[in-house]
Amino acid sequence: MVRFTPFVLALSFAIPKVVGWGALGHQTIGFIAQAFLAPNALKFVQNTLGQQYNFSLGPAATWADEVKSETAFKWSSSLHFVDANDQAPNSCSVDQQRDCSSLVCVLGAIANYTTRVVQPGLDSEQIQEALKFLDHFIGDIGQPLHVEAVAVGGNDISAICGGSKTNLHAAWDTGMVTKHVSQSHGGTSASYAADLVKEIKSGSFKSQVSSWLTCTSISQPVTDSLITKGSLTDELNDLVSRQVLRITPLECPLVWARESNAFDCSVVFDFPTGQDLCQGTYFNNAIPVIDLQIAKQGVRLAAWLNVLFDGAPRIPS
Ligand SMILES: *[C@@H]1O[C@H](CO)[C@@H](O)[C@H](O)[C@H]1NC(C)=O
Ligand SMILES: *[C@@H]1O[C@H](CO)[C@@H](O)[C@H](O)[C@H]1NC(C)=O
Ligand SMILES: [Zn+2]
Repeated sequence: MVRFTPFVLALSFAIPKVVGWGALGHQTIGFIAQAFLAPNALKFVQNTLGQQYNFSLGPAATWADEVKSETAFKWSSSLHFVDANDQAPNSCSVDQQRDCSSLVCVLGAIANYTTRVVQPGLDSEQIQEALKFLDHFIGDIGQPLHVEAVAVGGNDISAICGGSKTNLHAAWDTGMVTKHVSQSHGGTSASYAADLVKEIKSGSFKSQVSSWLTCTSISQPVTDSLITKGSLTDELNDLVSRQVLRITPLECPLVWARESNAFDCSVVFDFPTGQDLCQGTYFNNAIPVIDLQIAKQGVRLAAWLNVLFDGAPRIPS
């Protein structure tokens, strides 16, 4: 019989978690996406996530971070980022072959779970897993330091936020986002999402939305491949080989990765040692990037699911 002593429990809670965007950022991206789902995608999301997640991509967006330190999901921890081996901040780039040839990175993961979320024959738990991974990874890829190898994505660069010692990666994941949202957006992911949705529908982001979606049709080959052509055996073999041997990298996630990686050559590394990142010039330059990246990835997540389930991005503009 296995006995869980309080000591063992305390240990299991003490395992440190490095989170992409942090819960606040990820939930905001999920809530924004939820607001733009077309009818079939919305029905799919509600049925797949269920009451446990209040039928919403908002609460479900953090699952991937919660499980990655568990033994059963350790393998997924390298799917949250792509190590762009560039020369940031002097020269920025993302190259599929150079940075993710094994496909074990966020680029391969988005391709994998895009295929799996519509793959016939998976059980409901596998489909929910695919949706929760997409919900999360389409968020992660918008965080500039999740698309950067330098100093382990900034984890090895010490920094200060609000007077406390932290590191550059964590300042982007949580420190600056938390301060910004409590200062200017009502303090919760739901209120922050509502404010960004307003900017997307009728505010400062409205004119940019169509440019955020220029690559969404690239996901089309994924759905095409599911149309039955040859025999059932051919089709199954094709699915199996796609799944295990040749997950086809998609172009959109690469475009998104390059966009967020470009910030590693502008605002991200640009501060003198010892400067507090959560105030002053650095903070003021970073906040518009954070708002933009979170709004963008929320819209893109919705568009992605809308293409898969409703045949088109269906984002009003
Ligand atoms: C669940 O979602 C509904 C809107 O769909 C919202 O009004 C409600 O506050 C949410 N509940 C929780 C616990 O977040
Ligand atoms: C694809 O998803 C399956 C199921 O989660 C997983 O076992 C596999 O490792 C994934 N492959 C990649 C490259 O992400
Ligand atoms: Zn993550």
